[in-house]
Amino acid sequence: MDITTLEKARFYEDIYGPQIPPEQRPLFHLTPKVGWMNDPNGFSMYHGEFHLFYQYHPYNTKWGPMHWGHAKTKDLLHWEWLPSALAPDMDYDNAGCFSGSAIELQDGRQLLLYTGVQEHQHEDGSIETNQVQCLAYGDGINYQKYAGNPVLTVADLPEGGSSIDFRDPKVWQEEDGWYAVIGNRCADGSGTILLFHSEDTMHWKFVTVLEKCHNEYGKMWECPDFFPLGDYQILITSPQEMMARGLEFHNGNSTIYITGTYGRKTHTFKRIQVKNLDYGLDFYAPQTTLAPDGRRILIAWMQSWESTHSQPEGTRWFGMMTLPRELSIRNGQLIQTPIRELDEYRTNHVSYRNVDVGDRIQLPRVSGRTVDLIVSVHPTGCDCYKRFTLKVAKDSEVYTAIIYEPGRSVLRFDRSHSGFCHDILHMREAVVHNQSGELKLRVILDRFSVEVFINDGEQVMSSTIYTPLSASAISFEAFGGAMIDVDKYDIEL
Ligand code: FRU
Repeated sequence: MDITTLEKARFYEDIYGPQIPPEQRPLFHLTPKVGWMNDPNGFSMYHGEFHLFYQYHPYNTKWGPMHWGHAKTKDLLHWEWLPSALAPDMDYDNAGCFSGSAIELQDGRQLLLYTGVQEHQHEDGSIETNQVQCLAYGDGINYQKYAGNPVLTVADLPEGGSSIDFRDPKVWQEEDGWYAVIGNRCADGSGTILLFHSEDTMHWKFVTVLEKCHNEYGKMWECPDFFPLGDYQILITSPQEMMARGLEFHNGNSTIYITGTYGRKTHTFKRIQVKNLDYGLDFYAPQTTLAPDGRRILIAWMQSWESTHSQPEGTRWFGMMTLPRELSIRNGQLIQTPIRELDEYRTNHVSYRNVDVGDRIQLPRVSGRTVDLIVSVHPTGCDCYKRFTLKVAKDSEVYTAIIYEPGRSVLRFDRSHSGFCHDILHMREAVVHNQSGELKLRVILDRFSVEVFINDGEQVMSSTIYTPLSASAISFEAFGGAMIDVDKYDIEL
């Protein structure tokens, strides 16, 4: 009997996944069972647990024909892999099952809505690519692709809409049925976010163009998400070919959030402001879900597309998710904080108050690579320090630095000395306003990543590092007078 494409992937991951020693992975960040991972997909509650699917190519650590990997968790920290959910095995998704979303249906089934990439070769050798939207229904483990697929094609697009760039549906339910936002390009080549509606999940109709890029924020807008938060409506999207504007955006694949208001009856979204979602080196394609307790939780691919060739030698997995974050609004700005579930796994608390940093200091028992570290920096007296540097994942040869210069109001993340042997981007800066030199950092280290939550979540910088795990020292340096308060916990699951 012929083995199917999905069975082959499941067979492969079952054999090779368990061969990767757990200590060669992060402790509480999700990685692919084996091979390559990119975007989070289908982040949703199903039968009381969080499910997360991901763009997946099990056979090596490079992007390839996209499958959907699958995992679930109760606390967003302990992840359990489930068998691969989707494989590119139909005419309408023969070149890949691209990103999409999931939702629990009243009848107990789980619905997946994803982009099928269809490739056909013409007689003259040229290849035509189309992106279409497809459904699969399942029980949390096995999924059946809908016989009526695809449910949205080029025929459903507004005039001028691109059939090549039409992807990444994010579904949600309202009183009058299901809605989905989908990324597209209009005639001027720039991104649009389209809204579709369905009364039964199987038949979908175009409603409106919710938002347009007008070639102002990159080109194609990938992976949209759209949800209410506090008094606002938030649209998140990941533009391609973005151009930097000061330190607010950066070149290449970037992620922005747009705060606005939404007229639910008229389906009109009014933009208030556009901001960067994460200021680190590795962050893309986030997706959110609503937890049963009302929290809006976000997770993203913690990787930049441009540096995906820079992989540790011999690795058998590549690509990881961020720590899930709770979203809220403060003074009209998006606030991101680590999920509170992490607090349950903090151990070995070490606390220091009013420590004079001097030129450089290391504090007893403040070290490690699976760490939750909270540092508050204060100027001493009227002499404000010129520069404060926190170094983590450090030994005599390598370190990763977080540097604050209050005079410039700039915080810099620098992994130039974090063991990468490729000519990739190592440094990124963010404007962090602070006149008095007061700064609060919460740094989450999980072996191969550093996530810096600035001033109680006003900004975040997420980056990967592949330094040897023995590099675990932490030090504090100052140029000028600086005092610090430090709380450090180990994270143990
Ligand atoms: C974003 C993205 C999506 C697409 C997927 C393909 O990273 O390009 O737009 O669906 O990755 O793997």
